[in-house]
Amino acid sequence: MNHSLIDAWRSDFPILQSRIHDRTLVYLDNAATTQKPSAVIQAINDYYSTTNANVHRGVYSLGQQATDLFENTREAVRKFIGATSTSEIIFTKSATESINLVASSYGEVHFSAGDEIILTMMEHHANIIPWQEISKKKGCTIKVVPIQQDGTLDIEAYKNLFTSKTKFVSMVWVSNAIGVENPISDFIRIAHDHNVPILIDASQRIQHANIDVQKEDCDFLVFSGHKVYGPSGTGILYGKEHLLEYLPPYQSGGDMIKKVTFEKTTFADLPSKFEAGTPNIEGFIGLGAALQYLQSIGLDEIAKHESMLMNFAIEALRSLDFISILGYNGTNVSAISFVMDTVHPHDIASILDKKGICVRAGHHCAHPLMQFYKVPSTTRISFAMYSTVDEIEVCIKELKEIYTLFS
Ligand code: ALA
Repeated sequence: MNHSLIDAWRSDFPILQSRIHDRTLVYLDNAATTQKPSAVIQAINDYYSTTNANVHRGVYSLGQQATDLFENTREAVRKFIGATSTSEIIFTKSATESINLVASSYGEVHFSAGDEIILTMMEHHANIIPWQEISKKKGCTIKVVPIQQDGTLDIEAYKNLFTSKTKFVSMVWVSNAIGVENPISDFIRIAHDHNVPILIDASQRIQHANIDVQKEDCDFLVFSGHKVYGPSGTGILYGKEHLLEYLPPYQSGGDMIKKVTFEKTTFADLPSKFEAGTPNIEGFIGLGAALQYLQSIGLDEIAKHESMLMNFAIEALRSLDFISILGYNGTNVSAISFVMDTVHPHDIASILDKKGICVRAGHHCAHPLMQFYKVPSTTRISFAMYSTVDEIEVCIKELKEIYTLFS
């Protein structure tokens, strides 16, 4: 990949010039959150400096300008994921809230005692607990797609989980913990063969490659703004209009109604029905700027660069006999989880921090997956568009020193 191109990308991210413990920042925790380009920071700054007003309310022009900026993001998201209509794009505060909304509202209408929900062994807690909560309320059972040692979901076992009681499938596209990419087209087709709707958690996929919800035939798809170079506190729920239309609101309050009396309330049309209260206006304006920025660069270019980084990092880590990589099957996208002989992940992350290197150590909010691998935690390095081979080399050199130190 062209170095000057990556240097140009890097210059768009002011934080990359920072120093940590008097070392140049090496940020390899992009699966936790991505850094923000100047375009996003500037959009938020401009909004507060020139356009701040509440949305969907003011008849004055400032309020209209704020509403236009905010709603432009809905259109930007629609285009970014290939949805048919902006009615299908619901703004939430996070991917977590998006999943909670579907579990709660869809489950309220469609689940009853004895029904079954299918999840996979590699889900983030955000795609487990909301389903457990609605299951407790409705008397449903959760079934789990098993995983193989290399992180591949067992699709034959998945097929066999379906019964006449299966009401929903919810699964991750790319695992946050190990980076494996699931063949979601196959999983979606199989769910639809059984007339079962499926939710795809795209939080770790949206920032790495193009997405087309119509081509994939996703019923629901969620992601977080902060993982796609946008602000935190922004989340997206995409849902097919005919599915969203029949769901009850998740929260109620201002901006989601047609008419309120003390006897009865009628709710607004999509998407407002699911957006009670003043939203994160500046956050969504920032998210719009992030998506525009990514489109100006091209996700295909980013995917090429990140794939090169992944191959380089995997080869380098595999050459270290004191490192064991967990869940690598060749599909992995921009995240690698590993354990080091005799050294705890938290020690690794703390020592790397002293060298200015940010990596994540822990269970990655995926306890069942850690239980499968029989480890309490792993060290995870994860890349973004601005990551470099040099940064991976610096990290690997430090990992070697840590192992020498501990052994
Ligand atoms: N879910 C985020 C992660 O994987 C926070 O680190």
